[in-house]
Amino acid sequence: MSPKCIWKANMQKKMKLNKIDLKKVAGSFATGVTVITTRDKEGGVVGMTASSFVSVSLDPPLVSFYVDNNAKLMKQLTEGATIGISILASDQENVSNHFAGYPDPNLPIELEENNGFPLIKNALGWYITKAIQIIPTGDHHMALCSVEKLGRNEEKQPLLYFSGKYL
Ligand SMILES: Cc1cc2nc3c(=O)[nH]c(=O)nc-3n(C[C@H](O)[C@H](O)[C@H](O)COP(=O)(O)O)c2cc1C
Repeated sequence: MSPKCIWKANMQKKMKLNKIDLKKVAGSFATGVTVITTRDKEGGVVGMTASSFVSVSLDPPLVSFYVDNNAKLMKQLTEGATIGISILASDQENVSNHFAGYPDPNLPIELEENNGFPLIKNALGWYITKAIQIIPTGDHHMALCSVEKLGRNEEKQPLLYFSGKYL
């Protein structure tokens, strides 16, 4: 049976797709790594590691990313919120781990104010954006953001992620 037919047969039998397989196949799509930053009501920085970043449109300039419904960042993810996106460089694995819930106390995280907004210091690239739509998409929400400012550090190489590991 062709893969398409297997899928169809599974759907007909209403077989539940297994989360482990879903993660395994999704993880075989190699990506870069970003850290999404924003401020909470008290002015503190909230950050989350995300590989779901997508450059959506050049005209108008739009980008997007997806946030787990249970992530702390969801509280700050409102339409009109200012959102920073830092694209991590190859030497920033510890920064990715830190904002994925695995901080290393021996490796302090350096943020920098850029146009009055907190971003990851020495990242490969960065955007300052405004969230224009927050759309529920299953167990995640999609944030569609318009780009206001951006920059790139030409000397850096990307941090890459594949099958649950950094390359
Ligand atoms: C490389 C990498 C990429 C990730 N990408 C995403 C993502 O795109 N969306 C997401 O919701 N979580 C993603 N995560 C998981 C979150 O970073 C992690 O669950 C984080 O701890 C959630 O934030 P919280 O602990 O503040 O709730 C990723 C983790 C790693 C290590």
